[in-house]
Amino acid sequence: MKTTANIEQVRSQVNAWKMQGKKVAFVPTMGNLHKGHISLIEQAKQHADHVVASIFVNPMQFGANEDLDSYPRTLADDQTALDAAGTDLLFTPTPELMYPKGLEQQTFVEVPLISNQLCGASRPGHFRGVATIVCKLFNIVQPDVAVFGRKDYQQLLVINTMVHDLSLPIEIIGVETAREGSGLALSSRNGYLTAKQKTIAPMLKQSLDQLALAIQQGDEIAHAIAVAEQSLTEVGFKPDYIEVRQAQTLAYANATDSQLVILAAAYLGTTRLIDNLVFHR
Ligand code: PAF
Repeated sequence: MKTTANIEQVRSQVNAWKMQGKKVAFVPTMGNLHKGHISLIEQAKQHADHVVASIFVNPMQFGANEDLDSYPRTLADDQTALDAAGTDLLFTPTPELMYPKGLEQQTFVEVPLISNQLCGASRPGHFRGVATIVCKLFNIVQPDVAVFGRKDYQQLLVINTMVHDLSLPIEIIGVETAREGSGLALSSRNGYLTAKQKTIAPMLKQSLDQLALAIQQGDEIAHAIAVAEQSLTEVGFKPDYIEVRQAQTLAYANATDSQLVILAAAYLGTTRLIDNLVFHR
């Protein structure tokens, strides 16, 4: 696997592959890779002849009081894992390369409506940062296919909407959330949890399962959410939001909607965990 921080090198390698009639898949990441990321690379390999990954801890998607500085940076381990998984090319740009004028003067991409709710309400500007960097990376790599995890459900919808609205010629593939045996969704931020918090963390997924079951059994959405919030609070979470929405649009679910998604964010200490569950009623 070749690693480069140079835009021209990425473009010329991808161009060379395309001239040979090869298909190129792209997996953007912020590094500190775990098995969930590796499953994205594996999916990418199934959809293309060559796989490009990127590692960039994107300052534009972090709020002022968030963990940009402490976000784990583990490049050597990440390179080993990406290489072993069959990645062909790794792009590792610097913030200066991606935002040479700084963030204040940077042109941005904003997907309206869905960007301002749920995680977007708790993290203002987050999805603008995500959409902008993903659009930039797409323009640099120019892949045929790009692969994202479904754990970041709202992010996936933001990216799908951006690709559709801006007519980007890229197929987006969403990959099922990778979980520990306990059910805890894999996340780079799990590394912040203490040993005690790690025993509590799987209850987030359990509460989503119970909430879906309650709704399927006829419980009212608002009541089922209140029960889930209370049980999470009792075990030590501080819920940020738990919501049940229409799975395709994230619009509020009404009594006749059958394709639903539960989206949840909750703090354990200072660590914010997210998870989601798509289900039918
Ligand atoms: O999901 C992530 O790791 C990031 O939000 C992404 C898509 C790489 C953009 O920085």
